[in-house]
Amino acid sequence: MNKKQPFYITTPIYYPSGHMHIGHSYCTVLADTIARYKKARGFDVLFITGTDEHGQKIERIAKQNNMNPKEYVDEIVKDTKELWSLFNIDYDIFIRTTDAKHIVAVQRIFNKLYEQGDIYKGEYSGLYCTPCETFFTERQLHEGNCPDCGRDVEVTKEESYFFRLSAYRDRILEYMESNEGFLIPGTRKNEMINNFLKQGLEDLAVTRTSVDWGIEVSFDPKHKIYVWIDALSNYISALGYLSDDDSIYKKYWPCDLHLVGKEIVRFHAIIWPAILMALGEELPKTVCGHGWLIIDGNKMSKSRGNVIDPAVLVKRYTTDAVRYFLLRELSFGKDGNFTNEALIKRINSDLANDLGNLVSRTTGMIIKYFNYTLIDARERTEFDEDLIRLAINTSLKVEEHMDILAFNDALIAIWDLITKTNKYADLNEPWMLVKDASKKARLAQVLHVMCEVIRIVSILIEPFMPNTPTQIYEQLNIERGEKTDWDAAKIFFMLPHTIKVSKSSVLFPRIDMEKELVELAHIQQDKDILKDELISIEDFSKLSLRIGFIKEAQEIKKSKKLLRLKVDIGTQERQIVSGIALKYSPDELVGKRVIVLLNLMPVKLCGELSEGMILAASDGDELALLTVDKDIKYGAKVR
Ligand code: ME8
Repeated sequence: MNKKQPFYITTPIYYPSGHMHIGHSYCTVLADTIARYKKARGFDVLFITGTDEHGQKIERIAKQNNMNPKEYVDEIVKDTKELWSLFNIDYDIFIRTTDAKHIVAVQRIFNKLYEQGDIYKGEYSGLYCTPCETFFTERQLHEGNCPDCGRDVEVTKEESYFFRLSAYRDRILEYMESNEGFLIPGTRKNEMINNFLKQGLEDLAVTRTSVDWGIEVSFDPKHKIYVWIDALSNYISALGYLSDDDSIYKKYWPCDLHLVGKEIVRFHAIIWPAILMALGEELPKTVCGHGWLIIDGNKMSKSRGNVIDPAVLVKRYTTDAVRYFLLRELSFGKDGNFTNEALIKRINSDLANDLGNLVSRTTGMIIKYFNYTLIDARERTEFDEDLIRLAINTSLKVEEHMDILAFNDALIAIWDLITKTNKYADLNEPWMLVKDASKKARLAQVLHVMCEVIRIVSILIEPFMPNTPTQIYEQLNIERGEKTDWDAAKIFFMLPHTIKVSKSSVLFPRIDMEKELVELAHIQQDKDILKDELISIEDFSKLSLRIGFIKEAQEIKKSKKLLRLKVDIGTQERQIVSGIALKYSPDELVGKRVIVLLNLMPVKLCGELSEGMILAASDGDELALLTVDKDIKYGAKVR
């Protein structure tokens, strides 16, 4: 047998900065699907994923949790691995940037680049928030202030080592322009060339002295290697690069596919190639930037009434259902919206109605009409030809789509076969054939054709939905082996003449949409409440809450959402800008007695000073102001 061709695929290494959401699962599910597909096609696949554990952010979160950074990341890594196991992610290596072998490799890479002059010492100048001890870029700032604490930032300098990125610009530009498949989709390539490479590249600060939690520069330990040399090197440190045994590296590098989210394409398509060029190593064959799973137009960061905890979804709907949704719903490379409703719709239509129904009606009829054992002559009739041709051609379509990572199109092709087979059943009406003894052979044949299609469908869906085929094979008593190999999807009539089915169980139960959406909303609400931190009565007493009387309310020209209110609190009058214009008209508000938070830091909103906040309750789109149920004087304390 020929030696298998290696195929090396990676996901980004994830920041263990909190719990993983469904967006993170998206990237890993894509990678796992490709890895399984390539394995099925006979490649010798190496699939790695892991965690990016250093840096100030992790250090800070650990501190907030009263843990040291390593203790903290150990916990999160445990959760991450559990999540990947829930999603049936079959990775070969899980690399952590705190692994000793990674640390040594990064230090060796750094030293090599320093010794050959690609890294040099200089001075880094950036916008620094002193209380948070963090540098930010201009774009990260929030209205000119620190995005974490809201305080002023100042231009600060610190000693830093720099990587000579600028020296590699021309080579990278040329490489990107002349290598069609290096960066996909094409839109990302244009973005890199026009927005970055053509603008020129600056050298990159690669160490910090203000960060503790990081890999030391071995010859200058007050410097910690910062972010990219550490993180990107995982792709080779995991393979034993620069170690005593680099056989895995030699076998699998260059990487066939770095799969990354679109916001980190720049690091993978510009900085990483420059580092590799400097090291004299080959460049990855393909960097692929996928789109984001978004909620209401936003990248997932906080939940907006949707359950996005992937573990909850998998436990409720099964691994394969959630995987199917992620792979089917998004057009690869583009962003796609996530809603609970869309997920349930897909499960009900594609999985319960189409696939589930095909399997259950086929086994059900064999049980009912043939007492579990179907014996068939396997003769073709003209009537079956179209379906058979479609079935044996579907794998070719799937291959074409998978070779350009068009996951959703591959699934559409498989579902076309499923739908046509359900139609085939409707046209042949086995329930009528059974009534006529002379048609028993034809009846058996129709059901046999359906079993064959189900076998082929099971082979084809396996990379996407690794658990379902096993359940189907059990129902049809198909043993794994030559009948279930990828190439067996190209051959019809592989099943034995006698098919003995087992009692059918429902693969994907239908979900009651309305009931389910309510339950999911409740789960989300309970999670939100759990996330709320406990506070002491002293903390509560810091809030200056009083009864106020709305004397005036006016629209603000520049804003559709804001109203300018004059609120009487007994001893004084406050101007408060409130974002309730979409729900209350100025007239409705005048004369209302409301609860006001007085000691909120004043801010200017649309140029108007706001000194306080009036309280309101919200539930999705609903909004209600908090008022009092008895006459009580303005300024009365709320406690
Ligand atoms: O970027 N939809 O880590 P990370 C789709 N440590 N993908 C999403 C997503 C969403 N809503 N949210 C996040 C890092 N991702 C670095 C990588 S690699 C050497 C270092 C994807 O945990 C995101 O696009 O912030 C990225 O590819 C991955 O999750 C990890 O994000």
